[in-house]
Amino acid sequence: MTAWTSSLWTSLPIPALILDVHDCIGDVNPAAEQFLNASRKGLHGYPVWDKVFVDAPLETAFARVREGQAPLFVNTVEVGTGNKKPVTCDVQIAPLSDKPDHVLVLLESRELAGRLDRAMSSKSAAKSAIGMAEMLAHEIKNPLAGITGAAQLISMNASGEDRELTDLIVGETRRIVKLLDQVEEFGNVRPPDRRAVNIHDVLDRARKSAMVGFAAHMQIEYDYDPSLPLTWADPDQLQQVFLNLLKNAAQACKSGGTLTLHSFYEPGLKVRRRDGSGGALPLQIEIIDDGPGLSQAIAADIFEPFVSGRENGTGLGLALVSKIIADHEGWIAVDSVPGRTVFRISLPVAPKDGAP
Ligand SMILES: Nc1ncnc2c1ncn2[C@@H]1O[C@H](COP(=O)(O)OP(=O)(O)O)[C@@H](O)[C@H]1O
Ligand SMILES: [Mg+2]
Repeated sequence: MTAWTSSLWTSLPIPALILDVHDCIGDVNPAAEQFLNASRKGLHGYPVWDKVFVDAPLETAFARVREGQAPLFVNTVEVGTGNKKPVTCDVQIAPLSDKPDHVLVLLESRELAGRLDRAMSSKSAAKSAIGMAEMLAHEIKNPLAGITGAAQLISMNASGEDRELTDLIVGETRRIVKLLDQVEEFGNVRPPDRRAVNIHDVLDRARKSAMVGFAAHMQIEYDYDPSLPLTWADPDQLQQVFLNLLKNAAQACKSGGTLTLHSFYEPGLKVRRRDGSGGALPLQIEIIDDGPGLSQAIAADIFEPFVSGRENGTGLGLALVSKIIADHEGWIAVDSVPGRTVFRISLPVAPKDGAP
């Protein structure tokens, strides 16, 4: 290191780690020492997962960076260290130019990203926004029923133009009630009733119902790995997940296109939880469409409630998907470019004895 680069390393206010090819800690800067509450000596050589707990499968990201030799960002990851409260971080991973099998990891705390942004993006804020919406939904539905009833009474003696107006009132209030029902439903998701489930049975049910309904204008193909082991899931909730993803894809491909359901096994994928336990998520399901892809403006927020790119969209479909997958200790990711959008769900294998 030259004097400049060494002083850059020590004065960089963002925790930075260098990991070797085995994901062991090669070096840390002083900001990382402080963040991890440990000395450089105490960290050197240790597997990074002995010292840092995250709720995202970062080892896959590391592998991708090494393979592609290009940097990668993973946003809003909960990073825990020992007994300290986890901190939400945006993680940047980059290959080291002189040691291509090493990676540089920057843990940028979201706490620095501005108070408002934090308040809006935190899970608890989303939760209370949903709580509020639920309460409102409930309160609004009663008077709406009154309005619909009154409009129907008027329409009995009305004729012509007036009838059109009362029909409009009835139609629009129905639409609001439907939206409110969805908000309420979102708040009412029960904990999953999990059992050993054949993913392909669930996928097939969703596929068939899509085919005769909202995706009738699409070509639906599937590519299953028949040897896939059973997963541990609530089949109804899982079907809801697949239906929501298929529906979004079908809606994105207005003038038709191809939907592909793909399942495969990937043994390497793991999620490290805050408590340090590692959950393997080897079952992969991808819902792929060849539509226009996610619009840039909302791509980063599509899993947040009330984020929608569609007129009349509620923005609750993917929020529900992400909630259900989280309740299943799974992982969902999206990769989208015009012409190919892939929603990938990673799930655990059912325990051997059928008990969790
Ligand atoms: N397969 C897809 N292709 C393109 N855009 C998508 C796709 N899936 C979701 N989106 C975008 O994400 C937004 C959020 O989806 P969702 O949470 O289901 O809410 P909603 O469908 O009510 O808008 C959609 O409005 C759409 O803009
Ligand atoms: Mg939707």
